[in-house]
Amino acid sequence: MLISFEGLDGCGKSTQIDLTSKILESSGKMVKVLREPGGNRICEKIREVLLDRKNSSMSDETEMLLYIASRAQLVREDIASLLDRGFLVILDRYMDSTTAYQGYGRGVDLETISVLNRLATCGGKYVPDLTFFLDIETERSLSRVTSRGEEINRMESESIEFFDRIRKGFLEISRKDQERVKVINASGSVEEVFGRISEVLKQRELL
Ligand code: TYD
Repeated sequence: MLISFEGLDGCGKSTQIDLTSKILESSGKMVKVLREPGGNRICEKIREVLLDRKNSSMSDETEMLLYIASRAQLVREDIASLLDRGFLVILDRYMDSTTAYQGYGRGVDLETISVLNRLATCGGKYVPDLTFFLDIETERSLSRVTSRGEEINRMESESIEFFDRIRKGFLEISRKDQERVKVINASGSVEEVFGRISEVLKQRELL
């Protein structure tokens, strides 16, 4: 079983992933969390190139291909064997991030991204069984990013219009694939948001 979490930077994904993995583990499942871009040595190197603010001259196409390259490697090096060994794999971002950020955000051709996402996921074999899109208002997500006190990376230094387009993109992806992608209202307390996620996990008989 493959579960992905998606959302704007600062939507509270990491906290909710942590809670989700703990509750699934306590119900007896073997759980592994992987983050994109990253997760293994090669993917972490690609991550460095992608998020380095010095790389401001990176073209949109290069950016898209690097995210796809990282995904192709993570699927083949980690995800496939973890699933074979019976793990429930939770992904902190996955294929929908490329559609939303590089497609809707940057304006790279959506059809090309769809074809390359298929390639990265072995012809669609490793498309998630369930995806949570944690939705908050763009302004709130950006203010959370700046108040984290961490250095802002190359993606996070983009404009509010960019993130607005990405949010609309995620909502469009959810509308088109309602069976797989669940929109979670990510405003409110950590407990409230986790309550919404737990409900879906129960509906899917994962809890
Ligand atoms: P990260 O610090 O991991 O952000 P977060 O904690 O919000 O996931 O940085 C990953 C950045 O890469 C984030 O801004 C989203 C972006 N991204 C894309 O633009 N396309 C993609 O396909 C993926 C996986 C991430």
